[in-house]
Amino acid sequence: QTTVKTLLILGASGDLTGRLLLPGLARLVATGGAPGLKLVGAGSDPWTPEEWRDRVRSAFADAGTSGTAGAEALAAVEKDTVYHQLDVTADGPLAALLAELEGPVAVYFALPPHVSQKACEVLHPGQVPDGTRLVMEKPFGSGEESARELNRTLLTLVPEDHIHRVDHFLGKATVLNILGLRFANNFLEPVWNREHVARVEIIFDEDLALEGRARYYDGAGALRDMIQSHLLQIMALMAIEPPATIGERDLRDAIAAVLRASSIKAPYETSTRRARYTAGNIKGRQVPDYVNEEGVDSGRNTETLAEVRVDIDNWRWKGVPFILRSGKALGDQRKVAVVTFRPVPHLPKGFTGVDIPNQLRIGFGPDTLELDVDVNGPGDIFSLDRTTLNAQLNASDLLPYGEVLEGVLTGDPLLSVRGDTAEDCWRIVEPVLKAWSRDAVPLEEYDAGSSGPDRWSESSAE
Ligand code: BG6
Repeated sequence: QTTVKTLLILGASGDLTGRLLLPGLARLVATGGAPGLKLVGAGSDPWTPEEWRDRVRSAFADAGTSGTAGAEALAAVEKDTVYHQLDVTADGPLAALLAELEGPVAVYFALPPHVSQKACEVLHPGQVPDGTRLVMEKPFGSGEESARELNRTLLTLVPEDHIHRVDHFLGKATVLNILGLRFANNFLEPVWNREHVARVEIIFDEDLALEGRARYYDGAGALRDMIQSHLLQIMALMAIEPPATIGERDLRDAIAAVLRASSIKAPYETSTRRARYTAGNIKGRQVPDYVNEEGVDSGRNTETLAEVRVDIDNWRWKGVPFILRSGKALGDQRKVAVVTFRPVPHLPKGFTGVDIPNQLRIGFGPDTLELDVDVNGPGDIFSLDRTTLNAQLNASDLLPYGEVLEGVLTGDPLLSVRGDTAEDCWRIVEPVLKAWSRDAVPLEEYDAGSSGPDRWSESSAE
């Protein structure tokens, strides 16, 4: 794979570019990960070259890279960057720009999904130079059929391994740690199955509320925003069969296989749950009812918390509940994958004390690893005590978007979602979206700042 010479960001004046892409790029450039890269911004705003350069400069400055050895590389990208005012949905201008740029070019669609889709539709196959990579943000389509349609369009332009469907959770070092933890430690893999695991929970409870994102979020909701994408990817890494290599083909084949075996089963009243926050106080910050947040249409019944039970119907996992949950405006952040093991088959008589099952917890922020073990503790030596082995994991220097961009620029799609998997993730959640839109599952409420509805592991839903 040849390294990309030019990164063209469409939607350069947008929020994603300023908040996530440019800081990610700064970390990558500062660590020497993008030598000689030319950055080109394009957007609908009539920015002067100076305005764009200022934006790049301030995003780079905020990325925590100042004073590092990479200052020169950052300055070079800033100095050479250019901006084009462009209507990407019009037939012609984007193609003309692509023809002008030094290739290979990576085109990053940092745009709302319907605009990205339109921008791809107006490109014609012959107008996309060989070697071009197309980088698509989530959500990829709005359902299985539209994802398939978008895949079809993209494949007329470039081959599959030149399409990067971004899920920035695959750029989180701790998420990728699941692979090392599972496949480099012989004590884990033999118990990583239905014989020994009672349930797996993947929880991403955030203390952020809507934060002014109604335009996007109110049409999405927690199930589409977090579970359809990020949490299914984490679940897949927790559940995959050991791949022969950590190469894009082997790893992504393994991910595809496990997701193909996954589904959320009816009745959805028992396998899913949805809720929405009402006014409350999150750590001293007053938040209004979700429906009173600016830009929210209460008629949409958008959920701000979703919890689903996924079943993986294969030899290893049959019958083990994978509980995926994510909510906004909660009092405590909890970002963790929890594996709960089954109890020992027989606890020798004479032991007293702990009878809670062991858990392994992989924290995604802060990045931690915790394993509960029961030992003969102090005092009565046959009274068991629970102790927790824990480790703080070092975060990577590259932000998740830095990792994602590294794959894009070096032409390695390993950390991007493959086309068939993008469709499959919709296939898994679509029946639930339909049931919810028929109101087949009640929309619960929880106070902002509370811990939300009880998690299933704490209630009776198993
Ligand atoms: C985004 C979602 O993809 O991921 C947000 O749209 C969510 O709603 C965010 O807050 C969480 O990611 P991170 O990297 O901030 O933990």
